[in-house]
Amino acid sequence: EKAGFDHFMLKEIYEQPKAYRDTMGARLDPSGTKVVLDEVKMSKEQIGAIRNVHIVACGTAYHAGLVGKSVIEKLARIPVEVDVASEYRYRSPIITPNTLVIVVSQSGETADTLAALREAKRNGARVVAITNVVGSSVAREADDVIVTWAGPEIAVASTKAYTSQLIAFYLFGLYLAQALETQDAAAVAEIVAHLKELPEKVERILEQAEAIKEWAEQVSTHDNLFFIGRGLDFAVAQEGSLKLKEISYIHSEAYAAGELKHGTLALIEEGIPVIALAIQDDLFEKTVSNIKEVKARGAHVFGLHTEGETELAKSVDQVFEIPHTLPLLSPALSVVPLQLLSYYASLARGNDVDKPRNLAKSVTVE
Ligand code: BG6
Repeated sequence: EKAGFDHFMLKEIYEQPKAYRDTMGARLDPSGTKVVLDEVKMSKEQIGAIRNVHIVACGTAYHAGLVGKSVIEKLARIPVEVDVASEYRYRSPIITPNTLVIVVSQSGETADTLAALREAKRNGARVVAITNVVGSSVAREADDVIVTWAGPEIAVASTKAYTSQLIAFYLFGLYLAQALETQDAAAVAEIVAHLKELPEKVERILEQAEAIKEWAEQVSTHDNLFFIGRGLDFAVAQEGSLKLKEISYIHSEAYAAGELKHGTLALIEEGIPVIALAIQDDLFEKTVSNIKEVKARGAHVFGLHTEGETELAKSVDQVFEIPHTLPLLSPALSVVPLQLLSYYASLARGNDVDKPRNLAKSVTVE
């Protein structure tokens, strides 16, 4: 059942190209230029009436929501807030009938997320669910359901469900943009064209797994490290850090690269590994200057950059190249080496990769 892989997690990492293709599937118009989301039954008027969006989820799904916020704000120009479900319910969120609430849950059974969904509905909001399980509680209670066709995810640490959630956000963001006409047809077509290229680009990253395994073996001897990045790179850094903690039990912290000097830089000492994401073109120079700050204090920097970029290598100790895509889509690529990093670090430490201590795949208590 592991199809020749040593662990479900590795199998699921390698299933991502298929999960991307299946999640996009028939939702891309045959003309290849727009998105068709028939499962979302909102009229143009209803979409036009949305004043704000709340994305609510737990764990890895919350991290997908951080990317979702950028996607919706950029494509549809609607303000978005993202909350951890267990916080959302108790902070008296301002939910009106013009609020669209998006809940994200692989299992569709997470108690905190379900409670947040009910709170949203009680306040008259429309709820869209992004879930991997057809007929789950979240799917049944939401107004609209966007299913991620990742297939069953067995490993506790989520990989293909997370990336399929990203694809769902891209599709939904484009769907809103089409209805609101916040992006012209050419811009939509360009994004769709890049979306279609993602699976093959993930395959290219997977072909270089051996290089990440070497990084992981170095990292696995440390007890503390940092992930840094800006913008969407920071969102991915947070997911990379969570993944590493979940299964390797190495403590790490994800930091917005520009925020380091406001405190965390005090923790950078000789030899500490820093995983630096410098994928976002427009933020590249800024991130490089933050990398120099940690290098100057003795950090060993593992840098992720876009292929063709030659500058980063000069400022870091080791580099890994991500195929080029639109900056907005880059999380669907840059998270893959971080998944492999945590997998191989967990393996190097002799942990039970698929069943990390103290964690459950789906938490149905609050
Ligand atoms: C946690 C799992 O308890 O629940 C995480 O260990 C997961 O891996 C989180 O991301 C949310 O789960 P779900 O099913 O709501 O996406």
